[in-house]
Amino acid sequence: TDVAATTGGRTAGRTARPDLHTTAGKLADLRRRTEEAVHAGSERAVERQHAKGKLTARERIALLLDEDSFVEMDALARHRSTNFGMERSRPYGDGVVTGYGTVDGRTVAVYAQDFTVLGGSLGEVHGQKIIKVQDFALRVGCPVVGINDSGGARIQEGVVSLVQYASIFRRNVAASGVVPQVSLVMGPCAGGAVYSPALTDVTVMVDGTSHMFVTGPDVIKTVTGEDVGFEELGGGRTHNSRSGAAQHLAVDEEDAIAYVRELLSYLPSNNLTDPPVLPGVEVALEALPEDLDLDTLVPDSANQPYDMHRVIAHVLDDSEFLELGELFAPNVIVGFGRVEGRSVGVVANQPQQLAGTLDIDASEKAARFVRMCDAFNVPVLTFVDVPGFLPGTEQEWNGIIRRGAKLLYAYAEATVPLVTVITRKAYGGAYIVMGSKEMGADVCLAWPTAQIAVMGAQGAVNILHRKTLAEAGEDAEEVRADLVADYEETLANPYVAAERGYVDAVIEPSSTRAHVVRALRALTTKRASLPAKKHGNIPL
Ligand code: HXC
Repeated sequence: TDVAATTGGRTAGRTARPDLHTTAGKLADLRRRTEEAVHAGSERAVERQHAKGKLTARERIALLLDEDSFVEMDALARHRSTNFGMERSRPYGDGVVTGYGTVDGRTVAVYAQDFTVLGGSLGEVHGQKIIKVQDFALRVGCPVVGINDSGGARIQEGVVSLVQYASIFRRNVAASGVVPQVSLVMGPCAGGAVYSPALTDVTVMVDGTSHMFVTGPDVIKTVTGEDVGFEELGGGRTHNSRSGAAQHLAVDEEDAIAYVRELLSYLPSNNLTDPPVLPGVEVALEALPEDLDLDTLVPDSANQPYDMHRVIAHVLDDSEFLELGELFAPNVIVGFGRVEGRSVGVVANQPQQLAGTLDIDASEKAARFVRMCDAFNVPVLTFVDVPGFLPGTEQEWNGIIRRGAKLLYAYAEATVPLVTVITRKAYGGAYIVMGSKEMGADVCLAWPTAQIAVMGAQGAVNILHRKTLAEAGEDAEEVRADLVADYEETLANPYVAAERGYVDAVIEPSSTRAHVVRALRALTTKRASLPAKKHGNIPL
């Protein structure tokens, strides 16, 4: 049979067959096959892909990796299925481009599903190519970036296709906490296929062209009668803002890939190494004129918000901050930055959203981030201004008890350096949760504006002095003001905690960077370990 005719690629049948009895002919044959593999998708399919604002698998890989660094694996792999006439089309690559290359000079394994070939559907060979890349990454200890753009399990291959997903998931789990795993969803990703991105550390979606859902709009319509479109059900914005299944909403594919490159720069190649250090970064240890802003940042009124991003910007090198999950639970901010060239993970309450309270979503968002930092040797820097947990039946009935516990769990099991700065409110359980000294913070600092107490002054006075206030009659407001002032002086300050060593120092806000820098310098040699166990039983 004619090899070219059975490949199904767009050069099929067009190229004259070289003479395979000569060395020159064999070389020409290899080149022809390679060329065919690179153009496995038809021109029409590539055009359709581009028309949707999507790049091809190879274009995406080229953007992700350092120039000319991509080394392809299994370019010539193809399916052997004969169901439904599949033998008539056996494109090289089987709808996924796999291999490795470098990002900022460090090895990264990659796979990119190719929607232009068999709709990127995952058949046996396609699955095994992904599995090979995952195994490779685990062996060499490098991150894996998976680019998802697929019609899902290849229908013609049936169960042989489905079982590949199981093997991929198992490797996702085996690699979790060993090598960073990042998913780019850049097209459809439906049914059980969504669980591979879900198992990885970070998922990035593109606004308008990415979709993830377990059951699609048609099935939902049939079963529940709900009318919902692809975009609303599982688009990038939905998963970034509502479900929390994605952590960055990219405006386009270039933005998505740039985000992933930057993300990787904060992470080590694997759990046995430290993140890369940017050399030659000098940080001012004295307060610079602009740092004086921090001395006036906290408003006199406890009810007035301010932007915690400003505090973060003063502490991180060049104020550079890569936020994760910006649109989900914005009452807590998480993301990566650097201090003196070294990676840090920042967790911070945001007083501008829900007054900075912790709710279920914020607890889970922060918990997962703290665990990612801990798995990958990134110190955690926590900024606290938290009035408590968000009250309400919705929170209680949806499980703030077990789900809020995740954040406690995450801080308590973290062995990376933990530095905490309390800027203002640190009330009750939420204070304890947010990386307090007794939860394991190595260094805990407080601003003079800190109020470390069981609750705020108003609430405390209402409870403690209910009788007095009731009896005060017309003078109630005056009496209340006195009692509030008394409470604030006695308990709503950082000094009770400082007396007992629950905070290590009360510092001038403008000197925060200097204190954080010194703490993190000292903590670079921190060693801590947990009792040996199979694994903990984190409340899920
Ligand atoms: C085989 C598939 C395929 C699939 C798409 N194609 N999905 N082939 N198996 N699952 C093929 C199409 O036949 C078509 O081939 C080409 O890919 C492009 O698809 P189009 O439909 O033309 O593209 P578009 O209009 O953009 O629609 C994309 C789509 C649609 C929404 C993804 O193709 C679709 O609904 N596909 C089926 C999705 C699905 O139900 N998958 C199973 C999900 S369950 P030609 O030759 O015409 O170019 C699942 C379980 C995972 O995946 C297991 C986890 C444990």
